[in-house]
Amino acid sequence: MPLLSFAARIAAWQTRHGRHHLPWQCDDPYRIWLSEIMLQQTQVATVLVYYPHFLARFPDVAALAAAAEDDVLACWSGLGYYSRARNLHHAAQQVMRDYGGHFPANRAALETLRGVGRSTAAAIAVFAYGHKEAILDGNVKRILARHAGIYGAPERPATQQALWAAAEACLPDDAATLRRYTQGLMDLGSAICTRSRPQCGACPIAADCYALAHDATAVLPEKRRPKTRPEKTTVMLLAHCGDSVHLYRRPDSGIWRSLWSLPEYDDADAALHAARRLGNITTQRLLPVITHTFTHYTLHITPLAVQIGHPANPADWLPREAALDKGLPAPVRRLLTTIG
Ligand code: ADE
Repeated sequence: MPLLSFAARIAAWQTRHGRHHLPWQCDDPYRIWLSEIMLQQTQVATVLVYYPHFLARFPDVAALAAAAEDDVLACWSGLGYYSRARNLHHAAQQVMRDYGGHFPANRAALETLRGVGRSTAAAIAVFAYGHKEAILDGNVKRILARHAGIYGAPERPATQQALWAAAEACLPDDAATLRRYTQGLMDLGSAICTRSRPQCGACPIAADCYALAHDATAVLPEKRRPKTRPEKTTVMLLAHCGDSVHLYRRPDSGIWRSLWSLPEYDDADAALHAARRLGNITTQRLLPVITHTFTHYTLHITPLAVQIGHPANPADWLPREAALDKGLPAPVRRLLTTIG
């Protein structure tokens, strides 16, 4: 029996085995856009927790555009990668200012929104408008590299081009199939064509998969060459007073801009010296080093935890629960949640 097309098999598989009740499966471009931005660096299970809260607080693009950036960052707290939240806020203002409050209805115009790249714009164009556009996120790259046998380092433009060409070549024509196909690629990538130990026995495109036929699922897609990053060290002062902690607001430029964080020092002596200015120190201890990786360097953080008896300036302190509701850098959040 001849095989159905690549897209037809994935669309049919999606209907039977894919996800159908995700809260962003609707035709509202605002809700779709929000989900796609959240899902860029965060797993579905986590997004499912934060998405309804964010929507309740900012139910439409006008509400988001009118909000203070601080409120948007606070509502994003826990999702991390805050540049996404800043871009989201800026893009909402673009929609109000440049598009009269209506989401642009084609991929090219969607790409003018800050934080919306080609694949995200395509996902919105497919789900909200049924336009024939190709997505190419990490999951889809993996599926296509394996199925079509696309070798090459992922950061090479030639590899990217080959993947985009494969993505464009597979698109079905009608809007209903296109939606199921696009969601099917996402579902297949997360459930079946996983990075390690793919479930090829349950895959609708196994019959003509290059990687399966050539025993190459372990080497396709090729891995990115690990970057060598410079290493930096810092000491963070984690001062407690009862159940309150001492945080400060970072400047609105540079890393972790506008987030709430712990003060940093070159070494433990300098941190201790600063701690004495907060009040009398009753206990002090160095905690295990936390390593945080940025795009351009690796930061090794030594936390110095101190208890302060009588704070010199009580206004500088926040109850830990209130601190956790702020926009916090990921390692600071980790520290505050793990240290009682
Ligand atoms: N990842 C990115 N977009 C997604 C979507 N619409 N559904 C599930 N996972 C996704």
